[in-house]
Amino acid sequence: MADLSLHSILEQMTLEEKIAQFMQLATPFFEGAEEQGEITGPMAEMGITEEIVKNSGSVLGASGAKEVRSIQEAYLKNNRLGIPLLIMADIVHGFKTIFPVPLGIGCSWDTELAEKSAEIAAREAAVSGVHVTFAPMVDLVRDPRWGRVMESTGEDPFLNSEFARAFVRGFQGRNLAEDTDRVAACVKHFAAYGAAEGGRDYNTVDMSERQLREMYLPAYKAALDEGCEMVMTAFNTVDGIPASGNKKLMRDILREEWGFEGILISDWGAVKELIPHGVANGEKEAAEKAMKAGVDIEMMTTCYVHHLKEQVESGTVSENLIDEAVLRILTLKNKLGLFDHPHRGTDEKREQEVIMSEEHRHVARRLAAKSCVLLKNDDILPLQADKKVALIGPFAQNGDILGPWAWKGSREKAVQLYDGIAKREGAGSISVAKGCDVAAGTEDELNEALAVAAEAEVIILALGESSEMSGEAGSRSDIRLPEIQRKLLAAISKLGKPTVAVLFNGRPLDLTDVSQQTDAILEAWFPGTEGGHAIADLLYGIENPSGRLTMSFPHSAGQVPVYYNCFNTGRPQGAPDAQERYVSQYLDIPNEALYPFGYGLSYSSFTYDEPVLSSGTLKVGETIDVTVRVTNTSEREGEETVQLYVRDLSGEVVRPLKELKDFAKLTFKPRETKEVTFTLREEQLRYHHSDLQFTSDPGDFIVYVGPNSAELKEQPFKLIN
Ligand code: BGC
Repeated sequence: MADLSLHSILEQMTLEEKIAQFMQLATPFFEGAEEQGEITGPMAEMGITEEIVKNSGSVLGASGAKEVRSIQEAYLKNNRLGIPLLIMADIVHGFKTIFPVPLGIGCSWDTELAEKSAEIAAREAAVSGVHVTFAPMVDLVRDPRWGRVMESTGEDPFLNSEFARAFVRGFQGRNLAEDTDRVAACVKHFAAYGAAEGGRDYNTVDMSERQLREMYLPAYKAALDEGCEMVMTAFNTVDGIPASGNKKLMRDILREEWGFEGILISDWGAVKELIPHGVANGEKEAAEKAMKAGVDIEMMTTCYVHHLKEQVESGTVSENLIDEAVLRILTLKNKLGLFDHPHRGTDEKREQEVIMSEEHRHVARRLAAKSCVLLKNDDILPLQADKKVALIGPFAQNGDILGPWAWKGSREKAVQLYDGIAKREGAGSISVAKGCDVAAGTEDELNEALAVAAEAEVIILALGESSEMSGEAGSRSDIRLPEIQRKLLAAISKLGKPTVAVLFNGRPLDLTDVSQQTDAILEAWFPGTEGGHAIADLLYGIENPSGRLTMSFPHSAGQVPVYYNCFNTGRPQGAPDAQERYVSQYLDIPNEALYPFGYGLSYSSFTYDEPVLSSGTLKVGETIDVTVRVTNTSEREGEETVQLYVRDLSGEVVRPLKELKDFAKLTFKPRETKEVTFTLREEQLRYHHSDLQFTSDPGDFIVYVGPNSAELKEQPFKLIN
């Protein structure tokens, strides 16, 4: 349909019909939904009338070809102008084939496979009737107490941006109208939701604009540069103003500066939350502020549908603002081809073939294997096939490995660790005991586990957090394993047998005691549907671990936030003139992370030569090449992620100790040497100055190359005008 026709639809719409387009309601409100709610009880309390439902613009959380078809059909029968509904849902890391949580995907450093995972998620969701996914979540994260770190790809703005782009490409493809196997993406949560104070969900965010622009905004911008159709606002404040009523964020930065023309949707209830935040004295003012600041769609509260009409009629809110927002919504409906094909790719037969197909599960298995990070290995892994194994712990036989956002994922269909290990071809003897539940247990369970372990040659401990312990509203102040599991670990470690910990969790944990009481640690995150297979492949050396952390693991919660791209301070530890006491440090733990950004082991081993620069000087607007020879010194083929960092030694404002600028994930044959060349552009040295100008500073720099942010070889260079 041509844009002209969209304008003519707009002209025919009454003010009520326009405003109803801004209303997003959950599935049960709609006729045709399987679990249909009567418009009584809570719905009536919200003031939802049939008239509103009949005209509301979008649905939250509907899926399944049959259900979506019947909702759309019933809706179109009642909708005066035949404007189709938009179906939106959280397809965060898979629809039914569940991939690892995004933090795990981040640790793969494999943007191609990440893109593929989003493409598969889109295909499964689209055939089930979904049009828009509330993903990617690209909030930069530094505080593992925050439960939602598992939804992010980590603590680095560059890497997060690369993944943001990959996910958007995967979800959206090139043409949403023609390629009905894709869905529109909605990047979230704008902005800086990941910086909640104390890691407590929904809490205040307050930071300098420079910090916001340098660390937090780039990944949202990257998603939009890739063509992301929608943006979701965040729950938190930014500089004293809730993001969902923040004109500077939405109108000035998103729309004016970045030229974003797509739809802005509030997070769940966030328009009404302007009231408890304390910037609106009631729903009416909340509606006015959110609309003026730029929110087009209000998710699950009713400030707009109840108050905007009166505000337009009284002249408080201009009808132009309303029209612009409606047009954006109609435009997306049109881009998705919904006016011509309101049922789009929905297809019950294909749904059966596509969902959880062999191919999809295969990609999930590959990505899960690449997402796991081998944190420790004292010559115990890979395990020999014939070793007598005891598999112990609450995650030994547990389908809760999909993570908190696996809305449509089935725990029953997930491959549990026991099945992955025991059902392998050629598997030797394996006995299993739970030892305890995730957060509770009995002496009998512990004793049984100890008896099983005593008979084995190797113990695999499957420990972690339940999915409820992270995700939204899943903040924790103590980020160690639950006490009962630490007790199990301590008792098992006293047996003195070779012990491997496999960890299932949604955040970097404090692993200090785990690292002292085990011989190997494999961080598996929530690995998704194919978790058990992927982990078994890694433990037995069918796959070689290649994951690298994208978020630092602290020594303890008291060290949080600890992140690699921090500042030096005026009194750094270890400086030649540093005093013993009066330096920036803790008295009881190191400053550095227990396991730093970029870190991860492999069954291969690699050495790095000194990096060589094509020139010791870089001119503004030009490039230099940084070349390093990397050798696989082992007899095993393996992947290495070669990382390039830069430090600006003297900026106009303080610069981070290291900033990731590039990386290359490469496969090395046994004993193979490869020369890796990165081209460093002057543009990559630019940053926001005190006046927010984005330029570079001529002067001294260091370029670093290495396997992780803490083990690097360096070369100096100068930037000149
Ligand atoms: C979450 C969003 C999500 C939305 C819709 C909110 O509570 O913060 O990330 O997209 O719900 O399910």
